[in-house]
Amino acid sequence: MTYIKPIKIADIVLENNLALAPMAGTTDLVYRSICREMGAGLTVTELVSARGIVYDPDLRKTYRYIEISPEEYPVAIQLFGSEPEDFNKAVRIVLNHPILSSCAMIDINMGCPVAKVVKQGAGSALMIDPTRAGKIAEICVKTASEFGKPVTAKIRTGWDEHRVNGVEVAKVLESVGIAAITVHGRTRKQMYSGQADWEIIARIKQEVGIPVYGNGDVTSPESAKKMFDMTGVDGVMIGRAAQGNPWLFAGFFPEKAENLGLNADNNYMPAKVDKVRLILRHLDGLISRLGESTAVREMRPQMSAYLKNSRDAARFRQLLMRADSRVEVATILGEWCID
Ligand SMILES: Cc1cc2nc3c(=O)[nH]c(=O)nc-3n(C[C@H](O)[C@H](O)[C@H](O)COP(=O)(O)O)c2cc1C
Repeated sequence: MTYIKPIKIADIVLENNLALAPMAGTTDLVYRSICREMGAGLTVTELVSARGIVYDPDLRKTYRYIEISPEEYPVAIQLFGSEPEDFNKAVRIVLNHPILSSCAMIDINMGCPVAKVVKQGAGSALMIDPTRAGKIAEICVKTASEFGKPVTAKIRTGWDEHRVNGVEVAKVLESVGIAAITVHGRTRKQMYSGQADWEIIARIKQEVGIPVYGNGDVTSPESAKKMFDMTGVDGVMIGRAAQGNPWLFAGFFPEKAENLGLNADNNYMPAKVDKVRLILRHLDGLISRLGESTAVREMRPQMSAYLKNSRDAARFRQLLMRADSRVEVATILGEWCID
């Protein structure tokens, strides 16, 4: 697929221009590593509060949310907040950390629509305050540059249909040294509903010189191609379609797909037994970090997502949502496998 190719962000050349979108509760370290193996050229941690890091400089509480592994390189660490000084300190703490400093870049969240975040003036609230967005970006760029790391940002198209100012915000970000931008083609008001507006993504791409990732409603290699054709973006970022379906990334690479036994006939879906193996690998990775009880509980929605496109899986998904131990999970999945 000729539109899948290496992409350069600042001085870093990424293997390809396909990214896994940050998703709180989904894109944990284990899952990101799996997606990376399947072909994603870039992954991003879920959003973490810059102020939370400042108040927790030893990262006792925060670490599990931004934990990265050097093997999953390149990964971006995403921060959210509203105060430039919080970002300055948080970026310094992250980039002074022996493991976190192996991240490829810092990403600033300017798109989160959740009321709790927006009320603090953070996430997508920054879309209505381009001056503040610029100040935050500027200080992040300055601090991260001391450590030789680029800074990227993830924005929405605007706040609501009356304030679609993605182009303005993107230009401000470029002017202060942001190295690449991801545009989720929705306003804050749209949250995750309706169709993503790819026209605005195309306009932003035309107006800035830095790489732009298009995001919103890319669900397959075919829809990614449409996004590239319609918008001219440099890369695409995939979110919800990858929940429970890391094989989606392998579908972009014929050789990888073939090795995994995936093809258009089976809709690029693996055999049940391969799915179970991967779910248990994901779960075991979380158990080793969080302990069995927390890992199983937190993995429930993800396990349900892994089974979402299978026929007759409703009963098993319900059972998984109540499972408490690895043995229980393995038993339920074993039964699903032979069902
Ligand atoms: C459950 C969930 C959690 C998300 N968490 C984050 C996050 O932590 N940071 C972020 O920038 N975007 C987050 N997003 C937004 C996605 O990164 C992405 O922009 C959005 O889902 C649109 O892309 P898609 O249509 O491919 O899903 C989240 C989305 C979902 C569904």
